[in-house]
Amino acid sequence: MYIAVMGYGTVGSGVVEVFTKNHDSIVKRSSQSELDLKYILDIRDFPDDPNADKFIKDFNIILNDDDVKIVVETMGGLHPAFEFVSSCLKAGKSVVSSNKELVATKGYELLSLAEQNNVNFLFEASVGGGVPIIRPITQCLAANEIDEIAGILNGTTNFILTKMIEESMSFDDALKLAQENGYAEKDPTADIEGFDACRKICILASLCFGRHVYPDDIHTEGITHITLADVEYVNSYNAVIKLLGRAKRLSEDKIVAMVSPCIVKSFSQLGNVHDVFNAILVRGDAIGDVVFYGKGAGKLPTASAVVADVIDCAKHAKRKKIFGWDDSEPDYVSDYTQMETELYIRATADDKEKAFEDIAETFGEITVLYRRNAPANEFAFITELDKECVLTEKLNSIKSITPCSVIRVTDY
Ligand code: HSE
Repeated sequence: MYIAVMGYGTVGSGVVEVFTKNHDSIVKRSSQSELDLKYILDIRDFPDDPNADKFIKDFNIILNDDDVKIVVETMGGLHPAFEFVSSCLKAGKSVVSSNKELVATKGYELLSLAEQNNVNFLFEASVGGGVPIIRPITQCLAANEIDEIAGILNGTTNFILTKMIEESMSFDDALKLAQENGYAEKDPTADIEGFDACRKICILASLCFGRHVYPDDIHTEGITHITLADVEYVNSYNAVIKLLGRAKRLSEDKIVAMVSPCIVKSFSQLGNVHDVFNAILVRGDAIGDVVFYGKGAGKLPTASAVVADVIDCAKHAKRKKIFGWDDSEPDYVSDYTQMETELYIRATADDKEKAFEDIAETFGEITVLYRRNAPANEFAFITELDKECVLTEKLNSIKSITPCSVIRVTDY
């Protein structure tokens, strides 16, 4: 049996490296007598690569080669990945993808195509890099009704926030370091504006709750507005700021989901996740809370998940995997502002005494936070729990303060 790899970037080259290095044990685990790499598709030239003889530029060579039964898609982006993957599935080839954008946007369509053609479409690497999460949700936790899922889903932003929290490093320097380490997307906007985490929570929510959740339906905020001042105030609350993707089942036919920076207690399971590590907390009705933790980005951790899917495809060549989801429905994803939360608010006021009188009158009990060397007109506090829309309305009604930063506080 042969495989082909489409896209020789960070992940694709990692896949070839792991596949080559551990080839003997991979073949043994695949239950095949042979499992070999036949083609690598890329528009670029790699004349010095040890696999130089395998490079091709024409996708049709893979499509028309009946010996290629498994195709790895590590190109990223929607086009032409979608067209290539669709064609492979229609041609009876199983496909393994690490492409979150593809799965989050076209997952329902591609899983349906795989089912119609009795092949596999697997994407363990699309969420959490090397952290096992798709199989655990669909297999090990299959007995549960999953009520909620929340995760640190983007390694780049967690790396940046960790550097800001622990080393007071500037946002720009930390981003540069993350790019040098190969964690960031080609365009890091997808990381820092939360789009990457959004795609991942879409995939997880689709798996957990049984209907496709599309990125456009999810409220998404990134970390670009987080300042060292916020980091310091939150530190005085024994907490840290993390970019979380969250989704919660409200009823049989309604969920709520969002991506945003959140405040979590430092000693909590998600609060203790540093650097490029990801962690995903799943709340099931039988299991309670369970957390999956590991390296969420980088060449070899991601390749580890891709190659495991290749082995699974080889092992179950004639058997379609039994996971999938229905298409979405209008209003399936509810308004996120109806979710209950506490809010951290950093603000300034010319008259702080008057400001605190107004805050007490509007919000009732609050928790005041501190930081060293804060400007005289600045302060920060945390509200009591309420619906976000109610808290926002209250905040907007206070005319004596100028809000600078608002961050949700969670109980994970
Ligand atoms: N840019 C992504 C991250 C890569 O930093 O998590 C893995 O999906």
